Amino acid sequence: MNIHPITGFVGAEITDINLARTNKGEIQAIKEEWLRHKVLVFRNQDLTRQEHIEFGKNFGELEVHPFAPHPKEYPEIVKIISNDKVQYAASNWHSDVTWRQKPSMGSILRGRTIPEVGGDTSFANTAEAYNRLDPEIKDRVDSLYAIHDFSKTFGRNMSEKERKEKQKKYPPARHPVIRTHPETGERGIYTNKPFVSHIEGIARDESQYLLKTLQHAIQSPSVQCRIKWEVNTIVMWDNRIVQHQASNDFYPQKRHVERVTIIGTKPV
Ligand SMILES: [Fe+2]
Repeated sequence: MNIHPITGFVGAEITDINLARTNKGEIQAIKEEWLRHKVLVFRNQDLTRQEHIEFGKNFGELEVHPFAPHPKEYPEIVKIISNDKVQYAASNWHSDVTWRQKPSMGSILRGRTIPEVGGDTSFANTAEAYNRLDPEIKDRVDSLYAIHDFSKTFGRNMSEKERKEKQKKYPPARHPVIRTHPETGERGIYTNKPFVSHIEGIARDESQYLLKTLQHAIQSPSVQCRIKWEVNTIVMWDNRIVQHQASNDFYPQKRHVERVTIIGTKPV
């Protein structure tokens, strides 16, 4: 396999590999490149859904998403579809399922129907975004915790009763504002708009100001890469150290992508 970095801080395209037929050595090599580049892009990978799942299992246990739709026989696959009727909103910067007590280690997304133009996904290196913060802001956020709650995004269309039931099952999670990557030791920004309600233990104004400042840092193109999709492109990213955003710029075209999500550990 060959490695072609996309920017100086995040992303690499990997060529000369067939993800349907990997051996142990290749999985190990992918893991190493993944930790180094944080986002890996593989082109022309015509996997079956089962092969997509099997590839994901090489890196850990896969989760079943309690709110997102999945193809009938494949509960581990999240189906993400936008068209002229349904607009899937992944257009806010986030890391996947941070509202869980043990959020995702990584996601593996496969393009099935890709718009002629638009629908790119951008990725930000949250450690580099953190490095570039003013020292004064770093000091202020370093030891803080934020509260993550699914209901901000997935509870919008639920009845009051349903939301309360789900909140019992998936209570708000408390995670460090700056988390440490369990394998590389890098420290990165771990707050986001779709799931974080507030930073714990400080005034509401201060919480909002800091969350905005952190979001702003992630939005700098200098810490990002941007991936153009094709049918059968597979992008694999590390949710512990990157955030992502889908460009909402292809209405009314159809975009259909499918994800498997690797379970991670409790952030520290
Ligand atoms: Fe996502």
